[in-house]
Amino acid sequence: MEPGFDVVTGAFSYTGRFIARRLLAGGRRVRTLTNHPRRPGAEDIDVDVAPLQFADRAALVESLRGADVFYNTYWVRFRHGGLGFGDAVANTRILMSAAVEAGVRKVVHISVSNPSRDSHLDFYAGKARTEEIVRESGVSWAVVRPTLIFGPGDILINNIAWLLRTMPVFVIPEHGLYRVQPVSGEDVAEIATWAAGEAENNTVDAAGPEIISYMELVDSVAVAVRRRPPFLYLPPALTLFAANAVGMFVRDVILTRQEVEGLMEERLVSHEPPRGKQRVDDWLLRSADSLGRRYASELNRHW
Ligand SMILES: NC(=O)c1ccc[n+]([C@@H]2O[C@H](COP(=O)([O-])OP(=O)(O)OC[C@H]3O[C@@H](n4cnc5c(N)ncnc54)[C@H](OP(=O)(O)O)[C@@H]3O)[C@@H](O)[C@H]2O)c1
Repeated sequence: MEPGFDVVTGAFSYTGRFIARRLLAGGRRVRTLTNHPRRPGAEDIDVDVAPLQFADRAALVESLRGADVFYNTYWVRFRHGGLGFGDAVANTRILMSAAVEAGVRKVVHISVSNPSRDSHLDFYAGKARTEEIVRESGVSWAVVRPTLIFGPGDILINNIAWLLRTMPVFVIPEHGLYRVQPVSGEDVAEIATWAAGEAENNTVDAAGPEIISYMELVDSVAVAVRRRPPFLYLPPALTLFAANAVGMFVRDVILTRQEVEGLMEERLVSHEPPRGKQRVDDWLLRSADSLGRRYASELNRHW
């Protein structure tokens, strides 16, 4: 490609798809790094494709050479098949050093709200380490920290809807009163592209306009799909046991301990004025017909 394009990981996957669409709508040329170039629903995304791989460093550098901004969404949702958070941190280091060598002008790193190096949750500690790698890389950077991202192609909210549609009861860890602050994928893309244009290095949350309890979120999904089985309030360990049982049936990891504890620690709530504008309940009602009709499998998507 001629110089002056942007690189986005996972332009046919979830968050990268929103970012790629926004860049293309703004007239940018885009290359994506991905191992899934033919995902259904992404046929309109007209981008150059290169593999997302960490073994051939020279090829990785070449795929980034000439890029203006590198939007990095790479991460793994859970430990599986020999690939854990430590590997994802190491792979992030490879990506960043390749970006430096390729002379990329700026890196926009998609992290998560409330990462913490000292967290007992490897997910959040690992995310904090990836942020440090980005800040220490020597390249101009922005770190964008989304809370819970909603929009077409989402897995977590879609699967809440699927469970509400199919199960005789819906299990909620503990009391369900811990809060979340969902943000739309479009808003995340807007914040990421805005951050790319800022002169200063910065770290910003990407959070939506409303803070609601997890139970309210599940209730809103139930209203949208018009099915609300009785809620069963269980200790986290029993919630995970139930999720694993359903997971065996759908051959997926539905929910992890890291996710349940992160949720209950309210890590999906921002402490900054919200930058996102779209409300999750509006999106739920607009998507009611398709939401949760089919189970969305993380293992099918990435492993
Ligand atoms: N989804 C959310 O609600 C949410 C909330 C807060 C923060 N975030 C953060 O936002 C970023 C993007 O998340 P996302 O949910 O949108 O992810 P995603 O699009 O499903 O995946 C992001 C990228 O990582 C790659 N990837 C994911 N799992 C992989 C695996 N097991 N092995 C190899 N490559 C893998 C994907 O590869 P392919 O291109 O080959 O698919 C894609 O390029 C992550 O840093 C995540 O922690 C997400």
